[in-house]
Amino acid sequence: MKITDYLHEQSRSLEQSSRQIRDFRVFDFNHIPEEPIMRHEVRPVIDAYLRYLKTGIANHLFIFGSRGSGKTLMIKYIQRQLASRRDADILYVNCRQHNTSFKVLARLLGVRPRGCSVDELWHQFSVAYSRRLILVLDEVDLLSDKDRHKDILYLLARSPRNYMVVLLSNHPKFVSKLDESIRSSLQPEMLHFRNYDATEILEILRDRARLGLHQFRETDLAQIAALTARSTNSDVRIAIKTLYYVTIEESPDVAEVFNRARRDLLRDVLNDLNDRNFLILRAAMESPEPFVKEVYARYRRLSRAAQEEPFSYVYFYASLSYLQSIGLILLLATKVGRAYTNRIQLLLDSETLEAANHSRLT
Ligand SMILES: Nc1ncnc2c1ncn2[C@@H]1O[C@H](COP(=O)(O)OP(=O)(O)O)[C@@H](O)[C@H]1O
Ligand SMILES: [Mg+2]
Repeated sequence: MKITDYLHEQSRSLEQSSRQIRDFRVFDFNHIPEEPIMRHEVRPVIDAYLRYLKTGIANHLFIFGSRGSGKTLMIKYIQRQLASRRDADILYVNCRQHNTSFKVLARLLGVRPRGCSVDELWHQFSVAYSRRLILVLDEVDLLSDKDRHKDILYLLARSPRNYMVVLLSNHPKFVSKLDESIRSSLQPEMLHFRNYDATEILEILRDRARLGLHQFRETDLAQIAALTARSTNSDVRIAIKTLYYVTIEESPDVAEVFNRARRDLLRDVLNDLNDRNFLILRAAMESPEPFVKEVYARYRRLSRAAQEEPFSYVYFYASLSYLQSIGLILLLATKVGRAYTNRIQLLLDSETLEAANHSRLT
């Protein structure tokens, strides 16, 4: 086949498949729908926002839940609904892109992150924002380990301006790992966004399909929703990406396409992992019987070999729930003899893990 033939063929087939799509935005993970599907967990968030805007008394929030449980969307949606209020500012920063206190402040002030200290930036910030302010720090657990004291949190919590702080994270234990000095002044209300069930995922998909597609099959949507709820941590992103593949491909096999979507998104997740979590995954992978205690013992050996101080068992266990919340493992209670013990089921294969490790080190 000639290159030109290939090019024409591909562009024809793309043309054909995109005819199914009325509005590409429904597949954009950052797209904010006109009306997201209601989830009850959003109520205390709205209550806290309104109370603060009325009284000026800050009620800090820590919102946690698995990847793709709608945390970012809900917060952005509320922000958009409240945008017309003139008596307060609501700011949003994602710590994935701005991963130190310094960079967060520089971003909020619109200055280049160099040439002055965090304290100087903080001073400028306090001058710039003198009225009520709600500051959202999304993916706050991705603040770099280099930013050891998380100054931004300390400064916000202690500010006489009474700013309100909203922290979002996949990591349920983020707050309990903070320095005592920050925790005691922040004392955020902890709000858990539970995983969507298959019915809710189906509703979200149907909504997108109605808006964005010319035609779709209800059975496909139901199958995608069921797969997402059953074999991921209900990560709606995987569902949306699967819907995209199902739409653009000619006779797709939904289960196969679903696995592809999952692999695509797995790469992003692995890129965010720190070295210790990597070692934990490897330990689980190498354990013939991946019961939690065995994996912990193996993890300690691997850490020693890599000259790293291993986590204590308590932290190790917290890391397991984190790995579960980002969809890399499942913890399954299994009966051994008379007692129950947790068994780790990996949701990725060793090739994917090693490939990701390789690309991190190079
Ligand atoms: N209630 C909802 N209604 C409509 N779409 C949703 C809803 N919850 C999540 N989504 C969609 O699912 C995807 C993942 O949600 P996101 O807010 O990014 O999750 P998180 O921040 O918890 O990882 C996004 O594309 C989002 O638009
Ligand atoms: Mg998010």
